[in-house]
Amino acid sequence: MDWFAVVFNPSFPYRLAHMATAAFVATAFFVGASAAWHLLRGRDNPAIRKMLSMAMWMALIVAPIQALIGDFHGLNTLKHQPAKIAAIEGHWENVGDEPTPLILFGWPDMGREETRFKLEIPALGSLILPHRLDKQVPALKEFPPEDRPNSSIVFWSFRVMVGLGMLMVLTGIWSLCCGCAVGHRPALVQPAQSVLVPAGAGAGAGVVAGLYPGPAARGERTTPTTRRSCSPWC
Ligand code: HEM
Repeated sequence: MDWFAVVFNPSFPYRLAHMATAAFVATAFFVGASAAWHLLRGRDNPAIRKMLSMAMWMALIVAPIQALIGDFHGLNTLKHQPAKIAAIEGHWENVGDEPTPLILFGWPDMGREETRFKLEIPALGSLILPHRLDKQVPALKEFPPEDRPNSSIVFWSFRVMVGLGMLMVLTGIWSLCCGCAVGHRPALVQPAQSVLVPAGAGAGAGVVAGLYPGPAARGERTTPTTRRSCSPWC
């Protein structure tokens, strides 16, 4: 076995960049979660606020970079492991020359060779993978059954990853907007809180603890000056 060939395979730069960035972004949310936990318990001091501010700045900058690297990583996987992409997409067969749809949700059934209960957007698969409407995404039926990754697993694990990534991006943006709103337009804070609290609860307690910079926007417990210092802006 040539271990150098194993490690330095064609996906190496993408995996290294995506994995290293995952470590940065996860650390940012872990630090942010710790700060939010302290603030929610009333331990409000400049050091804790600085901790949350730094974490949210990090999220704002690094989470979109992670999504971009993920996109490049996907193109590399499409080139070198097309069967894996077909499984990630839950995509079984192409129809004529039509651009490939993007299946948002569904249940890939390996036995029946189809994705059941699917909700799909026409042509979007061709747009986000080959980035061209005149190209199709490879389909699982183009590969012998023994070469097909288990789509039921990778379809959903991929969506959880991308879903959390999107929540991380939104949290960074929300934190930025909220900081500005608290500093200059307090009327925006309450609606933002009303939307984000249930959205955060639905996204999963662990991640939300890190993502949710609620204390930064709690008007009743903080002065305008301290609230502003807790945002990644203003
Ligand atoms: C937001 C959009 C994201 C996109 C489009 C994306 C895309 C991808 C793709 C295409 C792969 C490669 C699958 C493969 O070929 O094996 C991958 C793997 C991975 N992603 Fe993401 N990703 C995103 C977000 C994230 C986030 C937020 C994290 C963690 C914080 C993350 C962590 C990982 C890890 C650990 C791997 C495995 C890397 C490896 O095999 O070495 N991803 N991602």
